[in-house]
Amino acid sequence: MLSIPHDIITAKDFGKNFKWGVAIAAAQNEGATDVDGKGKSIWDSFTKNGSKIKGAAKLTTACDFYHRYKDDLLLVKALGFSLFRFSISWARILPDGTGKINKEGINFYHRVIDECLKLGLIPYVTLYHWDLPQELENKGGWTNYFINKWFSRFVTICAEAYGSKVKHWIILNEPFGFTTLGYMLGKHAPGKKGLGNFLPAIHHAALAQAEGGRIIRRLVEQAHIGTTFSCSQVIPYSDKKEDLAAANRIDILMNRLFIEPALGKGYPVDDSFKFLEKLQLHNKTWKYTERLHFDFDFIGLQYYFPVVVKHNSYIPIIQATEVKATVRKMPVTAMGWEINADSFYRTIKKIWLYGGVKEILITENGAAFKDELKNGIIDDRARINYFNQHLQAMLKAKKEGVNIKGYFAWTLMDNFEWSEGYHPRFGLVHVDLKTQLRTIKNSGYWWRDFLQ
Ligand code: GAL
Repeated sequence: MLSIPHDIITAKDFGKNFKWGVAIAAAQNEGATDVDGKGKSIWDSFTKNGSKIKGAAKLTTACDFYHRYKDDLLLVKALGFSLFRFSISWARILPDGTGKINKEGINFYHRVIDECLKLGLIPYVTLYHWDLPQELENKGGWTNYFINKWFSRFVTICAEAYGSKVKHWIILNEPFGFTTLGYMLGKHAPGKKGLGNFLPAIHHAALAQAEGGRIIRRLVEQAHIGTTFSCSQVIPYSDKKEDLAAANRIDILMNRLFIEPALGKGYPVDDSFKFLEKLQLHNKTWKYTERLHFDFDFIGLQYYFPVVVKHNSYIPIIQATEVKATVRKMPVTAMGWEINADSFYRTIKKIWLYGGVKEILITENGAAFKDELKNGIIDDRARINYFNQHLQAMLKAKKEGVNIKGYFAWTLMDNFEWSEGYHPRFGLVHVDLKTQLRTIKNSGYWWRDFLQ
């Protein structure tokens, strides 16, 4: 085992009340997609014929967390984390999304939660991490107004089943991510495209986010409730007026679209960005503003990279294009994402300065690199540097008064990275997908030492 010195900071610099965790998600880790009564999710369907996913990757086995959760939770413990974030697969609990409850699905998460508690790990449960039951997608999924009824029932069942043991709840994982990639660009499940899908999906996700919060508040005593947003600093390519305007449009979409309604400010409708006004049609005279608002106990900020954008009149609606980090010759991860910790710092400050945010948890941050397993060792210094730099950025924001209470590394082990398949490896633990053998990477040991 290798010990890597932490020359600059240690976990103690964050104070003894700061909490450290690691995050995973059901579809990316569990496998066992048709075991014990689980219904199909949109990701099971989307990966079925292999054409939409790199390497034709399937979810059937993934990291087999469904069967190996005990060992995996021991790893979480061994690495020194005290929080464990995971999501509940809706189709495991309700195979067709609405009807009959699947007891075996309910029991699986009881086992995971009980094991966490036995090991002294605090469970953070995400209610929706992108794996909608296929049966609900057949009825329009997030574009159907009834999704709010369906989701409310699912949340109610989870709150009633686990509420006495689980106090920390995350309603949605990155609504911008799943509505844009899944209902506008067609790159993620369910593969839908266009504004006709995107706009209703936005509205229904924003409603579900707030309503989910209200249900947990009502049913779970002493609940600590949050929801997560993907956040990126949006940097204009130049000082030209048109690039500044393009950056503003992308900022509205990527950073403001969901947090502002959640904070009670309504949708970020801006004169320079007319198409979002269509959301007001659903929303005449802002009668929904109140329903989109929920008094979240914490905001889960997820940060990976900044984006640089410039004006491009050939691109419909947004009239902007990203100037990729590789083109700008910036350091990147294996995803081609720019490594920029300063941008993480600025993003945290920006979210804090909104006002109305009581507490920030970094619910995801991490990086994929081309790891090499040599003689049983993965010397992933690039990942260690990534964490080191980003933790420093977070500490700076904390010292300047931002109420950040905790941090979750993404992710425990190499897993299914959505349309990128299994190729990008984000884990602190390497997974041999043929044998399911786990090998702690040096970044995992780095965390263990850091948290000691
Ligand atoms: C997030 C997502 C995670 C994970 C991560 C790395 O957007 O919530 O599930 O895939 O990105 O790409």
